Amino acid sequence: MSEKDQRVAIVTGAAQGIGAAIAAELAADGVKVVVTDINGAGAEEVAARIDGVAKQLDVSDPDRVSAVVGEVVAELGRIDILVNNAALVPLTSWDDITFEEWRRVMSVNLDGVYLITHAVTDVMGKAGYGRIVNIASNTFVAGTPDCAHYVATKGASIGLVRGLAGELGKKGITINAVAPGIIASEGVLSGPHAAGFDYVVPMQAINRRGVPSDVAPAVAFLASEKAEWITGQTLVVDAGHTRN
Ligand SMILES: NC(=O)c1ccc[n+]([C@@H]2O[C@H](COP(=O)([O-])OP(=O)(O)OC[C@H]3O[C@@H](n4cnc5c(N)ncnc54)[C@H](O)[C@@H]3O)[C@@H](O)[C@H]2O)c1
Repeated sequence: MSEKDQRVAIVTGAAQGIGAAIAAELAADGVKVVVTDINGAGAEEVAARIDGVAKQLDVSDPDRVSAVVGEVVAELGRIDILVNNAALVPLTSWDDITFEEWRRVMSVNLDGVYLITHAVTDVMGKAGYGRIVNIASNTFVAGTPDCAHYVATKGASIGLVRGLAGELGKKGITINAVAPGIIASEGVLSGPHAAGFDYVVPMQAINRRGVPSDVAPAVAFLASEKAEWITGQTLVVDAGHTRN
């Protein structure tokens, strides 16, 4: 494939975990991946492994989002795929969620999705082509406790997919969500969520822990040419934990 024909993807929060696995899966499919993360050094490491391009990016920073999208267009000439993966994943009971924490989770998980999606759809709209995948969560289906702000943002992410598909479809852009179950990412393994495996794995139809590479192929499919007839949908990838 010539460089001119190579599709270009931006993946947010891709320095580790599910985002890094998605970046690797897209690269294996021949996509040039822009690995972005608030952790610039981590993004560099992932990009080096997959022959990608690294950009330090806090998705909640409007100026930086607009600068990075402009740089990608200037340097690579196109943006075919956006994967909205970056998120804060807190575990806080309702009584302890301060308004400050609420706002911070909204600003990364929801405002961040708005900012980069808005910037990228401008580029995709001019090209008449695009694939957007939001990483939601099966906590929205399960109603998982002790993270109500997080669950609210993931429901909003699915709401955005449903609400935006019609406008974007007219421009040749699809937008879908992938909602993973509990996955052994670096973030989960290093925090209190890790205790959730003991409770959740027995409820899954497939009784083993999920890993980031269990999620990535579903995202790559929705980001592919083959998924042209699928938009406004949510694909739950949770080993059958939830079944709706
Ligand atoms: N791991 C799970 O169990 C699970 C389950 C369902 C959904 N998800 C979703 O999958 C996605 C990835 O989760 P993960 O478990 O791999 O997370 P993780 O915590 O391992 O990695 C998240 C990445 O996002 C980056 N990040 C944080 N704030 C950022 C910001 N403001 N701007 C840009 N990057 C930022 C972090 O630096 C990190 O590299 C998230 O959207 C999460 O909600 C995860």
